[in-house]
Amino acid sequence: MAKGQLAGKTAIITGAAQGMGEATARLFKEAGAKVALGDVNVEKGRAVSKSLGRNSFFRKLDVSKERDWQAMVGDVMKRWGQIDILINNAGLVHFTPIEAFNPDDFDRVVGVNTKGPILGIKTVVPHMKEAGGGSIVNISSVDGLRGANGLTIYTASKWALRGITKGLSFELGGHKIRVNSVHPGGVDTPMGNSAGRPKEEVNQIFRRVPLQRIGDPEEVARASLFLASDAASYITGAELAVDGGWTAGTYIPMLPGAPEGLPL
Ligand SMILES: NC(=O)c1ccc[n+]([C@@H]2O[C@H](COP(=O)([O-])OP(=O)(O)OC[C@H]3O[C@@H](n4cnc5c(N)ncnc54)[C@H](O)[C@@H]3O)[C@@H](O)[C@H]2O)c1
Repeated sequence: MAKGQLAGKTAIITGAAQGMGEATARLFKEAGAKVALGDVNVEKGRAVSKSLGRNSFFRKLDVSKERDWQAMVGDVMKRWGQIDILINNAGLVHFTPIEAFNPDDFDRVVGVNTKGPILGIKTVVPHMKEAGGGSIVNISSVDGLRGANGLTIYTASKWALRGITKGLSFELGGHKIRVNSVHPGGVDTPMGNSAGRPKEEVNQIFRRVPLQRIGDPEEVARASLFLASDAASYITGAELAVDGGWTAGTYIPMLPGAPEGLPL
């Protein structure tokens, strides 16, 4: 399906040691891209890159550190001479009731989820401008489209990322650099299914989502592939929910057309 869609392109993918970042790296490689994998988890990141073989490498990258970004981008330019795609995927989730809010947690989570993508974009943009274009995909969340209890810090970080996406589409559009956001719903990764529960059990939690199941990391990777590719050449500043319909609205059990078997 993906064959050749990214032929001749190079991509940096953050948080690529597992979950959606790993799935994205695998799919992009299959689509013909050269892929640079960044993560703080060196052991897992190296293993993923090794399994991808030629035209991929791993480099330790803490997205919240500007120096790490300079080293990563310098490395890609030295090896391949161009950066066409940046997938800002690395992220941290954090749950807290508001009375237990800790400013240090806020700084840490926003540092990775929001400042990280900004630093990445800042560092790749001069190279994309010089090359005459590029595509940036920011992995936000359904929590960047609506609110959820206990997720104040995470939600702030993901709404911010969505807003940044829209602002930068104006700033960079004249340079043919497109910037879009992807909003995954529940996805079966170490973050989305931290207890590693079997699929059938997790799907119960998602019964009220229109597609009535958790998503697979590859399903999000395919959305990023589309936005990263030339097939999305007139799309910028957009938000794409990959959430099984979770943010489409509310399930109202007493009205006609409600899915069968769900309790009131
Ligand atoms: N899984 C879900 O249900 C879900 C839903 C909506 C949005 N998301 C978002 O999708 C993205 C990927 O999530 P996932 O489910 O694959 O998560 P995950 O926890 O499985 O993987 C995240 C990766 O990011 C890396 N990382 C963490 N901090 C980093 C840093 N400072 N620098 C570089 N790498 C760092 C981790 O080491 C890990 O490899 C995240 O931004 C997350 O917020 C996930």
